[in-house]
Amino acid sequence: MKKEYNWATLGTGVIANELAQALAKQGRKIYSVANRTHEKGVKFAEKYGIEKVYDTIDEVFEDENVDIIYISTPHNTHINFLRKALKAGKHVLCEKSITLNSEELEEANQLAKENHVVFAEAMTIFHMPLYKEINQFIKNNELGNPSLLTLNFGSFKEYDMNNRFFNRNLAGGALLDIGVYALSFARWFMSEKPEEVLSQVKLAPTGVDEKVGLLLKNSKDEMATIMLSMHTKQPKRGIVAYEKGYLEVMEYPRSANASFTFTDNGKRVEIASGKRENALLYEVQDMEKTISKEEDCMYQEYTKDVMDIMTKLRKEWGLVYPEEE
Ligand SMILES: NC(=O)c1ccc[n+]([C@@H]2O[C@H](COP(=O)([O-])OP(=O)(O)OC[C@H]3O[C@@H](n4cnc5c(N)ncnc54)[C@H](OP(=O)(O)O)[C@@H]3O)[C@@H](O)[C@H]2O)c1
Repeated sequence: MKKEYNWATLGTGVIANELAQALAKQGRKIYSVANRTHEKGVKFAEKYGIEKVYDTIDEVFEDENVDIIYISTPHNTHINFLRKALKAGKHVLCEKSITLNSEELEEANQLAKENHVVFAEAMTIFHMPLYKEINQFIKNNELGNPSLLTLNFGSFKEYDMNNRFFNRNLAGGALLDIGVYALSFARWFMSEKPEEVLSQVKLAPTGVDEKVGLLLKNSKDEMATIMLSMHTKQPKRGIVAYEKGYLEVMEYPRSANASFTFTDNGKRVEIASGKRENALLYEVQDMEKTISKEEDCMYQEYTKDVMDIMTKLRKEWGLVYPEEE
């Protein structure tokens, strides 16, 4: 394994700060910073003691010292950055949602393949140690395949066009912003991709999806319901029911705790692993393990399944972003 990979951040917003803090936990620093607004890039670099800030974003793709680019700009900007990064032979960890649709994802996956690099979504659920611990619990207790999943995710956002949440020009909407977590959770537990998907949607005044109800089923009759909302608060709660009992995970995008309640005696068992605040650190570690071929742990096939479902749904709703018109 190469001793230390050089990470560059493309974006210096809320989540990019978490990347800097994740590397700091390992006594490391981000190698370089690329950002649309140069001054904000400089401030970010000062905050974390990073020496290199590019004058323009494109310079990050040309820097031969950069091994991995972390992209944390709005969803609709990802594909153009991905094209450049992957063609330049950089490994890429890209924030959710990884692209706008399956077509873009397919293109980027192809570029990654041609350039022999690792390209994956920064989906916390796939990297929190809790989920591996739960998989072990499922195995140890011979729970088999899930029967039903019930998922909620809702936050209250104002109809404010200055941020991305309801803004069609910034690929806003419930599905790409929070639905991607619920679908990733469902995909993690379901033994295969759900091919049957029914939906209800209520659009926000801005034309993006504000409330979404989903009903999923795969060929093994595993079913899931998902309720998403962007203007109504709900707990981030996931329930996975098996014949022998049910699993409950609160705050599932970054959870470190779950419980399992057995059907026959009502006994409740706690399952715990990892720390919520280390979410980005786990992503960094898994990305580096995958690049160094120590272990393949980025779950790109789940990302593809989730993106296919989201793409199909938006097609059914007639919800297109300006880039897709
Ligand atoms: N995994 C998670 O837990 C998590 C949490 C939050 C967000 N996210 C995801 O991460 C991404 C960013 O979220 P955030 O909350 O960090 O956003 P944010 O704080 O608003 O930061 C956005 C960043 O993107 C840049 N940017 C905005 N529009 C751009 C454009 N048209 N071209 C190039 N750069 C542009 C901004 O640059 P300026 O400095 O020039 O404005 C800023 O650096 C989103 O995809 C979001 O879904 C993930």
